[in-house]
Amino acid sequence: MTTLFKNIKELIQVRSEPVSFVSGLEMKELPTIKNAYLVVENELISDFGSMKNCPTSNFNKVIDAKGKMMLPSWCDSHTHIVYAGNREGEFVDRINGLSYEEIAINGGGILNSAKMLQATTEEELYQQSKVRLEEVTRLGTGAVEIKSGYGLTKDAELKMLRVIKRLKENYPIEIKATFLGAHAVPTEYKNNKQGYLLMLVNDVLPTLAKENLAEYIDVFCESGYFSVADTELILEAGKKYGLIPKIHVNQFTAIGGVQSGVKYKALSVDHLEEMREEDIEVLKGTTTMPVVLPSCSYFLSIPYAPARKMIDSGLPLALATDYNPGSAPSGNMNFVVATACIKMNITPEEAINAATINGAYAMGLENEVGSITIGKQANLILTKPINSYGFIPYSYGNHQIEKVYLKGEEIV
Ligand code: NIG
Ligand code: FE
Repeated sequence: MTTLFKNIKELIQVRSEPVSFVSGLEMKELPTIKNAYLVVENELISDFGSMKNCPTSNFNKVIDAKGKMMLPSWCDSHTHIVYAGNREGEFVDRINGLSYEEIAINGGGILNSAKMLQATTEEELYQQSKVRLEEVTRLGTGAVEIKSGYGLTKDAELKMLRVIKRLKENYPIEIKATFLGAHAVPTEYKNNKQGYLLMLVNDVLPTLAKENLAEYIDVFCESGYFSVADTELILEAGKKYGLIPKIHVNQFTAIGGVQSGVKYKALSVDHLEEMREEDIEVLKGTTTMPVVLPSCSYFLSIPYAPARKMIDSGLPLALATDYNPGSAPSGNMNFVVATACIKMNITPEEAINAATINGAYAMGLENEVGSITIGKQANLILTKPINSYGFIPYSYGNHQIEKVYLKGEEIV
């Protein structure tokens, strides 16, 4: 099966020489080809270039993209798409004056989601979650990481991970699974956090490893949740099973979690709303990708991560949605890209790099997705007719997607 896209007004994020990720000043460069063609063969990008050199062979399908742009699908490296029910009641409580922390202390927050998830069957959880997966696919996401962490019991954590596995099997979108058992201390272990951590280490981890249910391991390293020592205990245990860290750090307080991430060679450290000089320093020259989540800052009215400062310090940066029922009930990467430009003062080039190639790296998928490169999956966004790619973040609250393709197939 071969498809030719011709007359593409601008083909964006073209990387003939593959890169793993871009950092600092490189992030300002977004390579493109104007008036371009692209060929898809057997699910992969097999050729692209200027229309001057457009091949004339017999293709199964020819799509005229006149006036439209094409870019690689968004890579969303941090989500909690598998969850049960919703928390719009807490949203109203916050409008009426309660803080996110106060709601959590009163049994709301993550514990509220855990209670709902524990009472939901695996089948029902799958049904609720697949709606969100289909929704983000239509919004241009072509690769996504999904975390557990709303189970907080052995059974419920495994239930979440099995749902993620089933989504992987049934959908063409690339999915990576992360074990986030240490997301909150469940009520039963209220006065015995160590007991909960040991249960995760001795009971849940061996089972999930046996069933091959996760690639990554995560901890909510935060005051009132899990300390740096707790985090390192979990990361150490995960290492024995080959689970690579991707951790929640510096959302509300900076307690040294970024340093632990670097020490344990985390693939990414995520959130970073509260960054000290030393947190930026320690990330320099490492293989750990800083991932920022503007929708969470928007929704909770907390500070935005200092993305501008991080890039100016030479760091790479990835953007993700954090799609979850408590702090970011939206999986819209178009909104994330726009909000990063508007509120974090980064350029469209930087934001698109952060939401494609750098997001792919933060999921270990930089060889499969995230750029227009021969041999990568044909996960593509075809825009509506637009003047320039800057219009994508400029038209915030809307999106400019006309069609999405996963492995070369149009998603309807
Ligand atoms: O990434 N910060 C920790 N976990 C989620 C939100 C959890 C929730 O409120 O349900 C996050 O923001
Ligand atoms: Fe999160």
